[in-house]
Amino acid sequence: MAAATTQKTVLLGVSGCIAAYKSAEIVRGLQKAGVRVKVVMTAHACEFVGPTTFRALTHEPVATRLFDGPGDAIHHVSLAQEADLFLIAPCTANVMAKIACGIADDILTTTALATKAPLLIAPAMNVNMYEAPATRQNMTVLKDRGVRFVEAEEGYLACGDIGAGRLAEVDVIVAAALEALGLERDLAGRRVLVTAGPTIEAIDPVRYLTNHSSGKMGYAIAAAAVRRGARVTLVSGPVSLVPPQDLLAVPVRSAAEMLEAAAEHFPAADIAVFTAAVCDMRPASPASRKLKKGDGDERLATIELEENPDILATLAAVKGPGQVVVGFAAETENVRANGMKKLASKQADLIVANQVGENVGFGQDENQAYIIGHDGILDLPEMPKDALADIILDKALELL
Ligand code: C5P
Repeated sequence: MAAATTQKTVLLGVSGCIAAYKSAEIVRGLQKAGVRVKVVMTAHACEFVGPTTFRALTHEPVATRLFDGPGDAIHHVSLAQEADLFLIAPCTANVMAKIACGIADDILTTTALATKAPLLIAPAMNVNMYEAPATRQNMTVLKDRGVRFVEAEEGYLACGDIGAGRLAEVDVIVAAALEALGLERDLAGRRVLVTAGPTIEAIDPVRYLTNHSSGKMGYAIAAAAVRRGARVTLVSGPVSLVPPQDLLAVPVRSAAEMLEAAAEHFPAADIAVFTAAVCDMRPASPASRKLKKGDGDERLATIELEENPDILATLAAVKGPGQVVVGFAAETENVRANGMKKLASKQADLIVANQVGENVGFGQDENQAYIIGHDGILDLPEMPKDALADIILDKALELL
């Protein structure tokens, strides 16, 4: 799992203006929010930035000409249909004028005419061009037609002039695109700490105790928090998942290491979600050399265990007033009742209680859970872990 996807596609139109290099940052901003991006460029845009840049960033073909679609005779139509939003940034006066008139003489303007997706335009041009009556009139025509704009800003322009016409800030354009797609950035400015995966507790240098946790639930929560704009720290035991992009990943092995890492990042966290399946016990005195059977070493036949620290309970006990702590309760029986007990005993604000056992919970892509709070219980149907992750974050955010 690389990043939580939203299943949304933005078609990014890049037209020929010096600000075209900023489109690469727009691609990254949208991807960070879990949006798939495909790029279509005018011939003039290719003079400023190469399609290779966008191909490398998006891992998608980049459309630059009307008649060179890879094996697709109606390239502009398929592009038009794929888009949930057509964002043109930067949009030149020329492209804006053509769209206002319905001219379709290249791949970008043809796609703009062919698409039923909402259009969002971020203009960029010289101040005189931006203020020219023709441009203002074209903008009015487009606005009347329902096209949205991220207005150009005042500032120093590449041509040396000072005035309105500079492409809006990348963050502003990305936020406008996400809003147009109906995607929330409700965790912007928040910090989220997630523990995930199992811990492993050494018996000797080659053997350890662990459990079946795959880390999928914690990674889904971390990815959803990134997508919703949070700064995320993911403290993870050993799993075979790739950490989501754009977060701080802290790999750990044992419960002791997990506690140390989580304690370091907990004070700054607004929301802490303790998803990890921490081993309750660890070998009391791990051997420094490989234990061998048959050489009289009793420690392999009888491993003496001692209790691990409870990371959730330890940190929830010192939580500040502005922090929300979410724990998990993986239960094989009496899921609701045990979850409620854990809410109190661990001083958590929320407990996500779910059934585990053979073929349930661990390692699956779906989960069925109760979200237990001090003011009630949410009884959720089985759903993908990605979807459950968003509901857990919704609940935590309500309590912030
Ligand atoms: O007590 P139990 O292991 O069922 O509690 C589960 C919850 O407590 C989970 O949120 C888990 O991450 C957390 N936990 C912990 N440290 C432990 C044991 C559990 O943080 N040593």
